[in-house]
Amino acid sequence: MTAHSNTVINYHRRTKHSLQQYANSPASLDWDDQPNAFRTFTGCELKKLPKTGAERQVLFTDLAKPRAEELVSYISVGLLLELSFGLSAWKSYGGDSWALRCNPSSGNLHPTEAYLINTDAALLPTGVYHYQVYQHGLEQRCLFKQPTHNSGIFIGLSSVHWREAWKYGERAFRYCQHDIGHALGCLRYAAAILGWTVELITECADEELSALLGVNRAEDFIANEREVADILCRIHTGDTSPDYDVDALIHAAQTGVWQGKAQLLNKRHLYNWTVINEVAHATEKPRTAPIQLPAFIPPASTASACQQTATQLIRQRRSAQHFNPQPTLAEQDFYRILTATLPDKLPFDVWTLSNNIHLFIFVHRVEGLEAGLYALPRNTDKLAALQAATSSKFEWQAVSAPLPLYKLISANCRNAAKTLSCHQAIASDSAFSLAMVAEFSDTVEAAAWHYRYLFWEAGLIGQVLYLEAEAAGVRGTGIGCYFDDSVHEVLGLTDETFQSLYHFTVGTPLDDSRLQTLPAYAHLK
Ligand SMILES: Cc1cc2nc3c(=O)[nH]c(=O)nc-3n(C[C@H](O)[C@H](O)[C@H](O)COP(=O)(O)O)c2cc1C
Repeated sequence: MTAHSNTVINYHRRTKHSLQQYANSPASLDWDDQPNAFRTFTGCELKKLPKTGAERQVLFTDLAKPRAEELVSYISVGLLLELSFGLSAWKSYGGDSWALRCNPSSGNLHPTEAYLINTDAALLPTGVYHYQVYQHGLEQRCLFKQPTHNSGIFIGLSSVHWREAWKYGERAFRYCQHDIGHALGCLRYAAAILGWTVELITECADEELSALLGVNRAEDFIANEREVADILCRIHTGDTSPDYDVDALIHAAQTGVWQGKAQLLNKRHLYNWTVINEVAHATEKPRTAPIQLPAFIPPASTASACQQTATQLIRQRRSAQHFNPQPTLAEQDFYRILTATLPDKLPFDVWTLSNNIHLFIFVHRVEGLEAGLYALPRNTDKLAALQAATSSKFEWQAVSAPLPLYKLISANCRNAAKTLSCHQAIASDSAFSLAMVAEFSDTVEAAAWHYRYLFWEAGLIGQVLYLEAEAAGVRGTGIGCYFDDSVHEVLGLTDETFQSLYHFTVGTPLDDSRLQTLPAYAHLK
């Protein structure tokens, strides 16, 4: 095992929550000094994007069907950014108000920042732009000096670890990675509305991506509030030429004219979570060979009664904070939601890496299904390995269902699910909750940077669950707080071959009528 993989595994171990002790986090929080969730660069031009709230008629359930691509324009790119990372509503209660976004985020802290890299001079001057969420605009960070080959638009994602660490301490690095996975899913769904596809560019080293996004420019950031580059995606539109030259892009950024300084996010940085810097360093990705995949043709979605457009559904997505423990979920909705998490479905065409995550599901209230613990291997080649690694008491009885679902035990698992998810009732009052279990030690030992990819895959699955739950007329919530090794114990996992990396819950939400809802961009009107 390399030193970097060792660092990662140690980080993972020390950031486990347990029934006896939570991972290290701040002893107290000064809510008045919460880091600003909106990053702004001062000293650079802000180009406002067209009005938000535009609709498109495509139904959510038809997103995988082939459709004419929209032309790349200020309007379509604005809609792509809004539906991926923009605001979806404001909530207020007792004098406080907070924004919600199309992309969810642990603690609503939003560590993810998005950048548009534009090589299409007809759209905008070629260069690098930061998506300013609050203003729904593009901050012009870099202008390329030389004309670049027009290879269309790219989206880069980065994380401000500090935003998440401010509240969650050492475990925050994990949450930042989940959020990247969610954001990638959001981008893929938003692109599908426009008839576009998204390609994850896997060859770049993180160092190169940092240079492209300008997040390596120490002089432009406050030291504790630096951004770490995560992902580069190419957006394939109807008029995009098939070839691109990532080295030329990086060179254009390195020789471009940069402007703007990141504004201070909060005044006091009382804690310095050095293990986050260590794991971030250990998981930096080196340059690798590009991954070429065969064309991906998502199969038609399974039947759904949902008649909502994808734009409506994306904007209405919320995390449930409480569930009504009475209703049951229709069996076909349960199957549809889970089938959508399988790797041959949209949005997993963006996922060029292997599928390393499997679902262990606590079924509480699903029509026609016995309550109990079930397993959904997302890659059936791994069935035998999962069977061998988990409790010998599990039945592994194939369920007669349109997906490879297995019943492990019949039981009322509500109390167990609640306890395992940090005593949160959202894990037990729902129709079902689940643990995303990753093929862990082999993956991380092969390359330390895979650690981040495992969480991205989990976040991507989480985004599918969020939207599919909405489409089924119910609601989901991501659960980052769970007692790691207690989950492993319940599953009978005795070593680190498999580890649970994220939980999720789906059910009938109970709305909090005390909260007032305001439109997403009410502040701009
Ligand atoms: C990675 C991740 C972990 C989360 N963990 C929890 C959790 O443990 N408990 C909870 O109630 N909500 C959790 N949430 C939900 C967030 O609090 C929610 O996304 C955020 O408040 C924004 O609200 P929205 O999803 O309605 O936009 C999590 C969300 C994400 C993305």
